[in-house]
Amino acid sequence: MSAPAHDPAKEPASFAFNPENLERAKAIIAKYPAGKQASACMPLLDLAQRQSEGWLPRVAMDAVADLLGMPRIRVYEVATFYTMYNKTPVGKHVIQVCTTTPCWLRGSDDIVHTCERKLGIGVGETTADGQFTLREVECSGACVNAPVVQIGDDYYEDVSPEHMETIIDALKGGEIPKHGSQIGRQSSEPVGGPTTLKAFTTTAD
Ligand code: FES
Repeated sequence: MSAPAHDPAKEPASFAFNPENLERAKAIIAKYPAGKQASACMPLLDLAQRQSEGWLPRVAMDAVADLLGMPRIRVYEVATFYTMYNKTPVGKHVIQVCTTTPCWLRGSDDIVHTCERKLGIGVGETTADGQFTLREVECSGACVNAPVVQIGDDYYEDVSPEHMETIIDALKGGEIPKHGSQIGRQSSEPVGGPTTLKAFTTTAD
């Protein structure tokens, strides 16, 4: 295993949006009124991160700042505030385990320990093969289906240690595990199924 200590040697010399992403960036910027281009900062940082193998080198933040006509320091402030932006290189799969109170009460510590044991790394580290990075994060905004794990753009909910093992095994095998509730509940309905509005009626116009 290896710790993801920031290695300046991995910082690329330059960054520019590729033609496809530049068009996307322009479309995002066009959503905001003239003079309010800074509002596009967050989606453009996300776009830059996706183009940069999942992390934001400083030159990518600079490119976003220059495109938006913002002081670079203001873009650094945004990027360093949110955990969704990776300021150092990450693995192919970034496993983000929510450990805030509702998820903690529902067993997130066991999920973290399962990840550590299965992957042989600690929180904040990346596997030597570059496949997995493990993170603890604050509330992922899906508390009602705690505990919650985000991997890439997908949410895994109602996760048990056994589910977590299955998810990691699937990722190791090159599969995309089924995301959403791992116990099959629909959205955020009660675990035992609906308790109200059990019958639906239709009315003729
Ligand atoms: S506390 Fe985990 S999703 Fe909110």
